[in-house]
Amino acid sequence: MNFGVIGYGYWGPNVVRNLSSLESVKVHAIADLNVAARERATKAYPGVIVTGDANYVLSSVQIDAVAIVTPVWTHYELAKAALENGKHVFIEKPFASSAAQGEELIELAQKKNLRIMVDHTFLFTGAVRKIKQVLDEQTLGRLYYYDSTRVNLGLFQHDINVIWDLAPHDFSIMDYLIKSTPEAIVATGQRHLNGHEDIAFMTVYFPEKVIAHINVNWLSPVKVRTTLIGGEKRMLVWNDLEADEKLKIYDRGVDITSDENLYNLLVHYRSGDMWAPKLEQGEALRSELGYFVDCIESGKEPFNDGPSGLRVVRMLEAASKSLQTRGSLVYL
Ligand SMILES: NC(=O)c1ccc[n+]([C@@H]2O[C@H](COP(=O)([O-])OP(=O)(O)OC[C@H]3O[C@@H](n4cnc5c(N)ncnc54)[C@H](O)[C@@H]3O)[C@@H](O)[C@H]2O)c1
Repeated sequence: MNFGVIGYGYWGPNVVRNLSSLESVKVHAIADLNVAARERATKAYPGVIVTGDANYVLSSVQIDAVAIVTPVWTHYELAKAALENGKHVFIEKPFASSAAQGEELIELAQKKNLRIMVDHTFLFTGAVRKIKQVLDEQTLGRLYYYDSTRVNLGLFQHDINVIWDLAPHDFSIMDYLIKSTPEAIVATGQRHLNGHEDIAFMTVYFPEKVIAHINVNWLSPVKVRTTLIGGEKRMLVWNDLEADEKLKIYDRGVDITSDENLYNLLVHYRSGDMWAPKLEQGEALRSELGYFVDCIESGKEPFNDGPSGLRVVRMLEAASKSLQTRGSLVYL
């Protein structure tokens, strides 16, 4: 299968490297507007066509699928052209700049019987796969909350705020792990430097008292990637920066019973074992791209398809709307 890749900035080289490592894939061409990016690509992949013209990638009859690894404001136009020219599309998060754009791309892909995969890389990590298994097996019991801190210094984006940059990770993970559809979002944040929010706090309400909180920040002196997921029976901590034991499951919790006669609350704290399950190793992006190729070959829809990208964009739009009014509740 021949791939073309558009965008060879920060993330594009990872996509090209992982595509090139797949046996059934050949990277036929790489396009980037930037001369320095093209020079890096030519040096790293002397056998690959490197061009400044994305239209070459979008229209070449040699190319079966296009990976779009450019800023979000370019996604819709590039993906639309790729689909119109009969190419399958692997597209970076966030899928599009608006839900309307996402809906149009999904409809076009359906009409042309082409696959869209949105790069929600975290869904292919050993940690998220294990958390999915743990939740599906009811190890935590009834879900109470998802609480994520995703902060670091930079990388400042010119075109989007910190929510559109970092929250797609948590929104896509929540979309994958929490089976119910979110009901409403509250978002607050502040702009300090370049006119875009560089720090934001979001609360997402789900049915059945499940609540999520996400803290994203480009102005943190240290990098933190820690997620707590609490359930009725057990709780887990996922520290993505740990080299080993990224995931720890705690047999801890609280049981409360009330003795009506005594008007008393009987609070019982459980504190049992902690264990760190073994996680699958390997680069998430590689297994994601391998899965994309399988989906194209077999004609099946990936689970991180256009509609899953669209659900994330809807959450981003709702968060943006709430942000404008300093945290009003926005229903999804
Ligand atoms: N999945 C992940 O974990 C992950 C990580 C980082 C970035 N991303 C996503 O990848 C995308 C790109 O991010 P980045 O950090 O690599 O950005 P970047 O600015 O570093 O690189 C984008 C590149 O695209 C090129 N480009 C832009 N428009 C083009 C066009 N029309 N034709 C050809 N080239 C064009 C630019 O010259 C630049 O080199 C974003 O959507 C971002 O959210 C995803």
